[in-house]
Amino acid sequence: MKHDLLTFSDWTPTQMQTLLELAVSLKQHPADYSNVLGGRSIVALFEKPSLRTRVSFEIGIHKLGGHLVYLDAQANSLVGREDIRDTAANLACWADAIIARVFAHNTLTTMAAAAKVPVVNALCDKFHPCQALADYLTLYEQFGEVKGRTLAYVGDGNNVTHSLLIVGALLGCNVISVTPQGHEADTAIFALAQDIAKQTGARIEKSHAIEAIKGVDVLYTDTWLSMGDKTPLAAIKEKFMPYQVNETLFANSGARFVMHCQPAHRELEITNRLIDSEASLLMQQAENRMHGQNAILTHLLAG
Ligand code: CP
Ligand code: NVA
Repeated sequence: MKHDLLTFSDWTPTQMQTLLELAVSLKQHPADYSNVLGGRSIVALFEKPSLRTRVSFEIGIHKLGGHLVYLDAQANSLVGREDIRDTAANLACWADAIIARVFAHNTLTTMAAAAKVPVVNALCDKFHPCQALADYLTLYEQFGEVKGRTLAYVGDGNNVTHSLLIVGALLGCNVISVTPQGHEADTAIFALAQDIAKQTGARIEKSHAIEAIKGVDVLYTDTWLSMGDKTPLAAIKEKFMPYQVNETLFANSGARFVMHCQPAHRELEITNRLIDSEASLLMQQAENRMHGQNAILTHLLAG
């Protein structure tokens, strides 16, 4: 039976920990995995732009001996040309897996139901699981373990927040989501993360008070306006500025590190000085996208 990777929500803590360890092994011993995808072809269908996800998948798959065909759905006018069920089923006739970046999560579940090969979520409106895996791999490398650490996510409660909550709960990492009023993480996803956390003892919390960041290990932020959100910046900037991850906030938090999935908007959700500081884990996160994704593909296709 094929498995998809859409959210991690239905994974067990042991499965999540094993995948994290596989990512570590892939990073440390690349030669052992140089042909795990030998002869395999994977299609990436992207409805939205991407730098990190696209390039890290393409180069990562090459390093595993596989081959990627990239389809820009918009540039190739593929959106709306035919039913997405037919697109997915056709791609599965040739490809061993489909990687998709889409606007609506429903598109992924529809594709997964129609395709006889695994579908991997490369970002949708609700989740960004590949990002969260890379981020916890980064924390694992910095702290030696993830369990018991505390990450404060500051800013807009979005797809990245949701995946950090789910994967953090699975790995036993405490996650505090600190957002302005009206920009909280999805209630059902937050409750799901709290439920998962009962298995690992992680604290999953939310707050509107910026003081909630005190005493955490890491501050994490992301764009205030995600792809597809047409809200003008001017309409939300004032509301979000108190949540800017800047030097004062960082000093007040006592955190050792600052994280951002990128693309970053310098001097909006995070300051230049912090991005370029010693505390910044941004490039390590970016590098780890490839190792995390290679672990996912190895697990799904060669596990
Ligand atoms: N973090 C991330 O997914 O970056 P891209 O949008 O550039 O892929
Ligand atoms: N929340 C952002 C993440 C980009 C990688 C977005 O969806 O645009």
